Amino acid sequence: MGKTHTVTLIPGDGIGPEVTDAVVRILEATGVKFAWEKFAAGASAFEKHGEYIPKDLYASIERNRVALKGPVTTPVGGGFASINVTLRKKFELYANFRPIKNLPGLETRYPGVDLIIIRENTEGLYVGLEHEVVPGVIESLKVITEKGSTRIAKFAFEYAAKHGRRKIHAIHKANIMKMSDGLFLRCARDVAKGYPDIVYGEHIIDNTCMQLVMNPYQYDTLLLENLYGDIVSDLCAAFVGGLGLVPGANLGAEASIFEAVHGSAPDIAGKDIANPTALLLSAVLMLHHLDEAAAAEKLMTALEKVYTEKKTLTRDVGGTAGTKAFADAVIEKL
Ligand code: NAI
Repeated sequence: MGKTHTVTLIPGDGIGPEVTDAVVRILEATGVKFAWEKFAAGASAFEKHGEYIPKDLYASIERNRVALKGPVTTPVGGGFASINVTLRKKFELYANFRPIKNLPGLETRYPGVDLIIIRENTEGLYVGLEHEVVPGVIESLKVITEKGSTRIAKFAFEYAAKHGRRKIHAIHKANIMKMSDGLFLRCARDVAKGYPDIVYGEHIIDNTCMQLVMNPYQYDTLLLENLYGDIVSDLCAAFVGGLGLVPGANLGAEASIFEAVHGSAPDIAGKDIANPTALLLSAVLMLHHLDEAAAAEKLMTALEKVYTEKKTLTRDVGGTAGTKAFADAVIEKL
């Protein structure tokens, strides 16, 4: 009898409940045993409990140290603070890890992409320190610290060293933000000195966007502060078929939250058409984290078979199948 993993589950908003439902069903079909502690967060939680993040949800993550999370809607230009940013800060999930890799069988404009995005997840403009200086003038503070920058650079180099990655580029705008991005770069350079086998480079963010679209193969691992990492992740998602395909992990010393790069996709919510692959690949990362490598590999093989056969794919990748039918196809392969 294998171990039962107790995992906090946040279905989220929009397409969140549809994709998490599909992924939970698939995970359970792998034979790994899970006990789910399920919580609402965001607007749906506020309606029920009067809190955007219920206290029990914090306690559950503290206890289990691992969560699987669907996307949560964040109001634009007002309203409550981002649930994602709040959870990342609360649990110091300082490393946002996003692998960008083509799935076999799925044709995209850029075949054979294999990139790793490592995004600092707690600082930069996402500290949310904004105020009105005088009417008509807003200040938004970008906070970069030596501790935070060194910590994420070490994460990136350690990851690269352990997984045979050959190059790291630190992405910045230190020509303009000389102090904040300058510090981020200095920390990356210092850490790089301890890893002579890994080629270290620096590119300015705007040039990086052009270079990525021209030739993504020139990069291996990208190390970015928070905002650049957020934007570049969506850009890179397009290389491998779009947001329906890119997984993510928010990693810290005390807890880890696994979630897709995409948001709650209100334009397609409730229609059974969302692609659960991004969350499923996040669940594969979670299985590795839980020391369930055999199940992770089994799941990847099943997923790759579904993509190679091309019979039951969702619309975003050229198929006609719904979310549920796609999940059923993966389960059948398992
Ligand atoms: P989005 O990622 O939700 O959607 C962008 C586009 O990609 C839409 O056309 C959508 O239909 C498509 N898409 C996204 N996921 C898909 C999937 N699994 N299958 C097929 N198509 C998919 O970004 P948007 O519209 O900017 O944000 C919507 C909401 O999500 C906002 O409230 C935002 O704050 C929130 N958000 C939450 C995140 C999280 O909880 N981690 C991350 C990003 C955004």
